[in-house]
Amino acid sequence: MTQRLAGKTALITGAAQGLGAGIALALAREGARVVATDRNEAGALATAAGIDAELGADTACAIRHDVTSEDDWQAALAFAADRLGGLSVLVNNAGIVTMGSVEDLDLAAWRQAMAVNADSAFIGSKYALPLLRESQPASIVNMSSISALVAGANLAAYNASKAALWMLTKSVALHCAKQGWNVRCNSVHPTFVRTPLLDGIVGSHEDEAKMAKLARQVPIGRIGEVADVAAAVVYLASDESAMMTGSELKLDGGMSAM
Ligand SMILES: NC(=O)c1ccc[n+]([C@@H]2O[C@H](COP(=O)([O-])OP(=O)(O)OC[C@H]3O[C@@H](n4cnc5c(N)ncnc54)[C@H](O)[C@@H]3O)[C@@H](O)[C@H]2O)c1
Repeated sequence: MTQRLAGKTALITGAAQGLGAGIALALAREGARVVATDRNEAGALATAAGIDAELGADTACAIRHDVTSEDDWQAALAFAADRLGGLSVLVNNAGIVTMGSVEDLDLAAWRQAMAVNADSAFIGSKYALPLLRESQPASIVNMSSISALVAGANLAAYNASKAALWMLTKSVALHCAKQGWNVRCNSVHPTFVRTPLLDGIVGSHEDEAKMAKLARQVPIGRIGEVADVAAAVVYLASDESAMMTGSELKLDGGMSAM
């Protein structure tokens, strides 16, 4: 690896599995020191242990963190500041898929989707900014979805929550620019990516027939892999993307071009 993130310190939410775990590893492989957080504490600890096993002790650490909790955010950020000596990258990755049309969903399910997918990044950005501006140049990467831009009849809460995250990204970016801080904020918008999240949509992300069926909806002819998304986050976390803020990076295999 080329140490594109040497000297960077990163906190990744939802890092017990799937994209968050892959992003934490990819950032660390490029030289960042990372905190893996998740409401699944054992999973976050396993992610950090795997990174340390590959890259050396003290590359990664972990803490239990429910992203809908203000108290947990403050504790996780204090932990990152203490263990990493500051924070220059925040990846708001934790998210849930809530299936259902506007008529199927009850208000509690809607609110839960908004809390995990959108409120989380509001709280996280709010409390992380004092740390990030002490470690400029800094970067916030928000894991939205192509579902922020392209709707589905049975994805009312997911569509709306990911679109809220997309637009929050732009507001945070403009706020930081207005303050004169070199703290950038961008969003990432993948199509289907092979992670356990797809289990809730199609049954099993390890079922190749089901993955092939999903792939037929993607112009490029395949679904995304964790490495596709992790590479984009490395770029946005790095100073290579210095001119990019308030932007959306679509990793949709051409889906939204149709
Ligand atoms: N996999 C896809 O097809 C896909 C496509 C587009 C966007 N995304 C987005 O990427 C992100 C990661 O998804 P994934 O595919 O890795 O999903 P995943 O279900 O495999 O992993 C999500 C992780 O988030 C954690 N999490 C959930 N709620 C939490 C909470 N309240 N507090 C802390 N942690 C919580 C879970 O414990 C889990 O470890 C999500 O925001 C998702 O919406 C995924």
